[in-house]
Amino acid sequence: MSKQRILSGMRPSGKLHLGHLHGALANWISLQDDYECFYFSADWHALTSEYADTSAIENNTVEMITDWIAAGIDPERCTLFIQSRVREHAELFLLFSMITPLGWAERCPTYKEQQEQVSGRDLSTYGFLGYPILQAADILIYRAHKVPVGEDQRPHVEMTREIARRFNNFYGDVFPEPGELLTQFPRVPGTDGRKMSKSYDNSLYLSDTPEQIDRKIRTMITDPARQRRKDPGDPDICPVYDLHRIYSEHETLMWAAEGCRSAGIGCLQCKAPLIEKVNQGLDPIRTRRAELLADPSIVRGILERGNQRANQVAGDTMRVVRQAIKIG
Ligand code: TRP
Ligand code: SF4
Repeated sequence: MSKQRILSGMRPSGKLHLGHLHGALANWISLQDDYECFYFSADWHALTSEYADTSAIENNTVEMITDWIAAGIDPERCTLFIQSRVREHAELFLLFSMITPLGWAERCPTYKEQQEQVSGRDLSTYGFLGYPILQAADILIYRAHKVPVGEDQRPHVEMTREIARRFNNFYGDVFPEPGELLTQFPRVPGTDGRKMSKSYDNSLYLSDTPEQIDRKIRTMITDPARQRRKDPGDPDICPVYDLHRIYSEHETLMWAAEGCRSAGIGCLQCKAPLIEKVNQGLDPIRTRRAELLADPSIVRGILERGNQRANQVAGDTMRVVRQAIKIG
């Protein structure tokens, strides 16, 4: 039996951090055994907010995809590609724009949220409103069965199903309705205790050297009530302990929690085995990354092949779509 197809993408934000690794990427990696996977850089989606300065987008795509591969995404088994290299996404987006009621886009919860949260950019553009419609085109053009995403993206996959249904109603059965593969991401705190995010400048990057990791974790915020060595702390409100939960074994967790509550250990002591684990985990990634960077033609070749494969599949779908709508 042929494998089901999954599709997922990330906006190209450049080098990846541990939040990406333990969230989306870990999940993508585990899916590549059982599914035919298409993973792509959503560079046109990046444009919805970065339109005024596009200079970083191409380079961010290459950096991001290099990190995917270094982290364990297997280009032999997955199709890795760039959204803007498959022009059919734009064609299908245009057709979907014709049939998507304005209210669906306006009521999308991420639309209002982002407009309120993102400052310094004017997001009252037509393209930004159309974000989930472009995403629906990304998904449906590969006729994907499943879309692995975090909770925040669920409304977009729901809208994708609605658009598929509406299209099929008008023009005949072309698109399957994709389901979301909801991923439970662990909360990965940054060095300041907030969610790890490039824009907060609090991230541990896959590309950080052992020394950088060491320095960042040693200065990472802990339970703020633990001012002095003799003050007991509460691991349940300590972001360092959240990282321990991801990286450390039961024994170390017990040791840290007990030592923290009794003030038996200091924070630097507590952090030492964590620093080691994080660096151990990153070591093979660093090695692969260095290999990929040493010869840029490797990633370039992977993307050329991926873009080509994506073009084939998207081209096939669009031929069916054009027939169904009797135009083009
Ligand atoms: N909106 C997604 C995000 O911000 C990125 C994305 C674009 C995507 N197109 C997609 C994810 C299609 C899954 C499927 O994370
Ligand atoms: Fe956090 Fe460990 Fe310090 Fe406790 S001892 S506050 S868990 S870093």
